[in-house]
Order: sequence, then structure tokens, then C-alpha cells
Amino acid sequence: MKVFYHKNELKASKNKILAKSTGLVPTMGALHEGHIMLVKKALEDNELVLVSIFVNPTQFDSPNDLENYPKTLESDLQKLEKLKGKIWVYAPSASDLYLESIKAKPFNFGSLESTMEGANRKGHFQGVATIVQKLFEVLEPTSAYFGEKDFQQLKIVTALVEKEKIPVKIIPCPIIRHSDGLAMSSRNKLLNPKHRAMAPIIYQTLQKALALKEKYSPAQIESWIIDFFQLHPEFELEYFTIADTESLQKTSVLNGTKNRAFIAVKLGNIRLIDNIKF
Ligand code: PAJ
Repeated sequence: MKVFYHKNELKASKNKILAKSTGLVPTMGALHEGHIMLVKKALEDNELVLVSIFVNPTQFDSPNDLENYPKTLESDLQKLEKLKGKIWVYAPSASDLYLESIKAKPFNFGSLESTMEGANRKGHFQGVATIVQKLFEVLEPTSAYFGEKDFQQLKIVTALVEKEKIPVKIIPCPIIRHSDGLAMSSRNKLLNPKHRAMAPIIYQTLQKALALKEKYSPAQIESWIIDFFQLHPEFELEYFTIADTESLQKTSVLNGTKNRAFIAVKLGNIRLIDNIKF
């Protein structure tokens, strides 16, 4: 495994080896099994796998959230070191990617960003699209791996490569969960023990909602969820939305297999998201 801190060194080394296929796994570090699964999938498909580790400032809407985001480069490198295959890590500082100023480009993803994470975290997807485009330009992967954990992000990145005609294949990967059902997330590390013990309620609630699907409309299921969380005041429900998987707009009528249920809650100060096929 090699670790690069500067894009020019990585590009020079990459030009020397002329890999037939390069898979990129963009991350913000604090790696867990969800990230490792993306890296393993990329290793199966590609000669060279690039893992970027960069906590991207422009996608955070709160300075506190950015400051508190876990940064664990040493242990991240140890986890990647254990995997078999050709892995190069790119762990830049902000100035290696943001040349003039640390600002997001004003992308417009229309209805894809007007709901859920886009509506609740102002400028978030402009920041994500800006950094993902920069990583694609600098690292020139043939494919890039994204988790369905951030389903809306996956849709935005897919729209980005279409819009900007970037020749990268986007590979979606399923959500990896802890044995108690909680979706793996770097933010889980920030939960206090009491909140960590309660956090599986998020996935359990999604599953209860799914069980109501035959009898009740999406609007009725949504009000059931709102009532449920009012009885569990440790959780602050930000949204629960049953949406069409293509448009990500709220559905009033379930449409075969083309729906997903999305949830965002705060537990203490920690914001967690999850989603399931609906
Ligand atoms: P990060 O939150 O570190 O996630 C990196 C990748 O891992 C994303 O594609 C995310 O969807 C995936 N992932 C996280 N938890 C997962 C889980 N439990 N199961 C499956 N996949 C999971 O997403 C970002 O970073 C950033 O926005 C980034 C794309 C790197 C741009 O800065």
C-alpha cells in the first residue's frame, strides 16, 4: 500500500504504471466495515484501487460538525493495510484540492437536491459535488464506488457525471449494518453509550413502517412515525420520507418496487441517516 499526500505525486506514479482499470473509493475517513466493503468490491473489479481520505469542509453546513467529525488517519491506514491488493491512499490537505479558495461550485441538481439532505443541510450537495468532481479530475478513475447509505448522494453523483460528461462509472453498493441493525457510520463513534444503545431503534422503526405498507398509505405511515418519535423524546426526528427512487420526490401512492423510505434523526447532537427499500 502507498500513501500520497499530494496529487502531483500520485498522478506521476499512476502515469508510470498504466493500470487498465482504477476504482476510486472517496471517503472522509474514520473507516468502518461499510467503507471496507466498498474497497473490497473495488479490489475485485480493478487493477488499482484509490481510497481518498479527506474531510471536505465545503459539505458541512455547521463549523461545529466539521470540527467534531472524527479524524483517525493512522488507524484508517492500518485497516486498509490489512486488505490484499493494490491500494493507494490519497490523504490530501485542503490546499491540494481547493486551489484559490475553499468554496463549493454553485451546482444545480433541481429536484434531486430539493428534499431530505439537500433541504435540511444547506449547500451540502454543492460541496459534495465540488469535491467529487475534483477527485475525478485529479485521480481519473474508471469507476467509483458509493454506498446506498447516502442514497441521495449516490443520485447526485450519478447526475453529476451525466451533467458534466465525466467518463467514470458509478457503482452503487448496499448498506452495511451492525448486528443490531444500526447502519454503520463514522458518526456512530460520537454517540454516548446510552444513545448508542438506543440507536438501533432507527432501523427497527423503518422496518415497522415497511410492515405497515400493505394496509396504510405513505402519509399515514409518516404520521405513525412522527407519533412514534414523539413518544421517544431522546430522538429528534428531522424527516421521514417515502420517495420515488428516481426523482427522490415524496410519493403519495406506492409504486411497485420503485420506492425507498428515508429517515434523519438527531440523537443528542449527533445526526444519523438511514434508508431502506420500500
Ligand atoms: P463518508 O461518509 O466517509 O462515506 C464514504 C462512502 O462510504 C460513501 O459512498 C458512503 O455512502 C459509504 N458508506 C458509509 N457508510 C456506509 C454503510 N454503512 N454501508 C455502505 N456504504 C457506506 O460520503 C462521504 O464520505 C462524502 O460525502 C464523500 C463522498 C467522500 C465526499 O466528501
